[in-house]
Amino acid sequence: MSVGPHAGNGKITVPEILSRKHASPDSLSNSAKITCVTAYDYPSARLLDEAGVDVLLVGDSLAMTVLGYESTLPVTLEEMLHHTRAVRRGTRRALIVADMPYGTYHAELPEAVRNAMRFVKEAGAEAVKIEGGERRMELIARLVEAEVPVMGHVGLTPQSMHAMGGFRVQGKTPDAAEQVLRDARAVEAAGAFAIVLEGMPRELAAQITADLRIPTIGIGAGPDCDGQVLVLNDLIGLTFGASPKFARRYANVGEIISGAVREYCEDVRGGTFPSDAESYHMPKAASEGKKIRAVS
Ligand code: KIV
Repeated sequence: MSVGPHAGNGKITVPEILSRKHASPDSLSNSAKITCVTAYDYPSARLLDEAGVDVLLVGDSLAMTVLGYESTLPVTLEEMLHHTRAVRRGTRRALIVADMPYGTYHAELPEAVRNAMRFVKEAGAEAVKIEGGERRMELIARLVEAEVPVMGHVGLTPQSMHAMGGFRVQGKTPDAAEQVLRDARAVEAAGAFAIVLEGMPRELAAQITADLRIPTIGIGAGPDCDGQVLVLNDLIGLTFGASPKFARRYANVGEIISGAVREYCEDVRGGTFPSDAESYHMPKAASEGKKIRAVS
């Protein structure tokens, strides 16, 4: 298994992720690119970790992919902590980054810092991810000061869906692109160790990647970023409805699950499951000659 360059014991750490960019400032070579996938529970974390993914993101996308909401907005802090703990139990090597959900860092700074620290202290996250650029500078700096590593997230930020008028690609005009670049620079200046670039033209993501000294991790931002992130359900085909243009489906797990469960139902209804080989038996001596009497 090729897992790219990493710290001696194999554990991916925040400094290790940063050092990849410092070794190759313009943009990471293909073999050093950062791989990131969302993980939401113990089995997904184990499988992704064992497959060599560098960063497991406990994304607030779980509101939609796991909990069935229409957007990421309703998921709560307690729910995100619950899923992060499960991911922690399934992970040995990958870096765990937890998304701070909407409403947990938007009001008071001290409350936001306390909420972020809960991900580290109670759930085993090694960093948190926060959406927004210039307006998050103070918070990011406070978190870094409180020993909570921060991954930024600019461009299409799903928690801003109402302000943006939906899930819309950002930075398509020169002025809008300038703002996204300013946001990315602000996130870096505030002390984040990496940044997600979501839903923006490839050309803009390439420019930001060349401009920053922290690694960029793209989703719907083209191939020139220092790494890529995909939502697990898009990657494995466990979705309902159309997938976004940028998502590549590597498997059709939804179809595999449906097929398996349909077959199981047929076998139960046809009397072929369970078979004798799938049943327990009484020890020979106990079953021979003795009738089992009901005990009242
Ligand atoms: O919640 C999430 O899955 C994310 C990724 C899309 C980056 O934030």
